[in-house]
Amino acid sequence: MGKVFICDHPLIQHKLTFIRDENTKTKDFRELVDEVATLMAYEITRSLPLEHVQVKTPVTTADCRVIAGRKLGLIPILRAGLGMVEGVLKLIPAAKVGHVGLYRDPDTLQPVEYYVKLPTDVQERELIVIDPMLATGGSANAAIEVLKKRGCSQIKLMCLIAAPEGIKAVQNEHPDIDIYVAAVDDHLNDHGYIVPGLGDAGDRLFGTK
Ligand code: PRP
Ligand code: URA
Repeated sequence: MGKVFICDHPLIQHKLTFIRDENTKTKDFRELVDEVATLMAYEITRSLPLEHVQVKTPVTTADCRVIAGRKLGLIPILRAGLGMVEGVLKLIPAAKVGHVGLYRDPDTLQPVEYYVKLPTDVQERELIVIDPMLATGGSANAAIEVLKKRGCSQIKLMCLIAAPEGIKAVQNEHPDIDIYVAAVDDHLNDHGYIVPGLGDAGDRLFGTK
C-alpha cells in the first residue's frame, strides 16, 4: 500500500492557511501556491538516491554526493496543476514536463480527458503527478492510468489538499503510489468539493468563475 506523507513544515502550513482564506485574491493565491509547491518539492525529493563523486576543490579532492537514478518528470493535471509547476521547477529545473488535461464533469464528477502530451522518454523517468486538489480521486487515478498505459512505473502524487475519500480511491486503484499532501481535510460535500478545502483551485488560480 502506498504511503501518505503529510508535509507539515510550519512554512507550508502557514501559507496554506492564507491559500484557504476566501479573502485571498488571485495574485496572492497564485504566489502562495507557487511557494508551497517549492516547499513541497523539497519534501518529495527527500528520498532521491545519491551516489558518490569526487570533486577537486581549490584545496584538495573531496568525496561528495550527487543525485543518482532516474531523471525526473513533472505531470501537472490541467488546469489547476499548472499553478504548482513553476514552484517545483525552481528546485528541479532540469525536469521535463508532461501535461494531462482532465476536467471533472460537474454532474457525474467523472474525469473527462481532453489533452495528453508527454515527454518521449516518459517511461524512463521518475514522475511526480501534480494537482492541488485530491477530491474523489477520479482525476488523479485517470492521470496515473494514462502514465501506466505508457509504461511508466515510478510515480508519486503531490497535492495541496486531499479528502480522505480521494486518498482511499488512489490507494485502492494504485496501491503502488505514494501521496504527498500539505493537508488531509474532513470530507467531500454533495458537490464533490473538499470541506473545508479552498474552493475551486482552478478558478482561484486563474481568476475565472
Ligand atoms: C479539479 C482539481 C482536480 C480535480 C479534483 O479540477 O484541480 O483536477 O478537480 O477532483 P477529483 O479528485 O474529484 O477528480 P477541475 O476538474 O475543476 O478542472 P480545472 O483544474 O480545469 O479547474
Ligand atoms: N476541485 C477543486 O478545485 N476543489 C475541490 O474542493 C474539489 C475539486
